[in-house]
Amino acid sequence: MVTPRILAFAGSTRRDSFNRKIVRIAVAGARAAGAEVTELDLAELKLPLFDEDLEKSEGLPAAGLKLKQMMRAHQGLLIASPEYNSSVTAVLKNTIDWASRPEPGEPPLSCFTGKVAALMSASPGALGGLRGLVHLRAILGNIQVLVLPDQVAVPKAHEALNEDGSLKDAKQQAAIAGLGEKLAKMVQKLMA
Ligand SMILES: Cc1cc2nc3c(=O)[nH]c(=O)nc-3n(C[C@H](O)[C@H](O)[C@H](O)COP(=O)(O)O)c2cc1C
Repeated sequence: MVTPRILAFAGSTRRDSFNRKIVRIAVAGARAAGAEVTELDLAELKLPLFDEDLEKSEGLPAAGLKLKQMMRAHQGLLIASPEYNSSVTAVLKNTIDWASRPEPGEPPLSCFTGKVAALMSASPGALGGLRGLVHLRAILGNIQVLVLPDQVAVPKAHEALNEDGSLKDAKQQAAIAGLGEKLAKMVQKLMA
């Protein structure tokens, strides 16, 4: 059986990001289902703000090339992101925008075409970042990513997590771990 490879990241660079914590729950679920998961920290990647003039004069920055290599090496994406002003965060959109830029001779959207994604969000607010997921789903769908219908939003995130990073609500914990598992199984099926 082929091992599914999944890239996991949060759409927040905040040190104590709730979304980084919940994506780790999904990572554990995906690993338990047999996937090989790489965790990417966008704070460490330090992508510059996308600028077409910069791209034209200097090409893809080293961080952009690294991101694209990582994306090409994985078939699945586990993304947890907060919403900022009811939509995707700038850091997440910036990451998607850089990854969408072809290197010379590369077909368009090669980092996204055929990928499968599972989405989740967390926020201290009552909606848990759900509105941002609507936009994220649309963006990814438009760039050829198959987004799993299941998603989880964790409201009141500041009260929802234990010190060890697990969720207090066992159902929520299982739902997020289950997202990772579903993604691993879906990628495996598509690779079979
Ligand atoms: C610029 C900005 C806009 C925000 N807009 C929203 C929002 O629309 N909805 C929401 O639930 N939370 C919003 N928040 C609060 C974030 O959900 C909160 O900071 C959350 O902890 C960020 O996720 P993280 O913990 O993964 O960094 C906003 C925060 C910032 C900084």
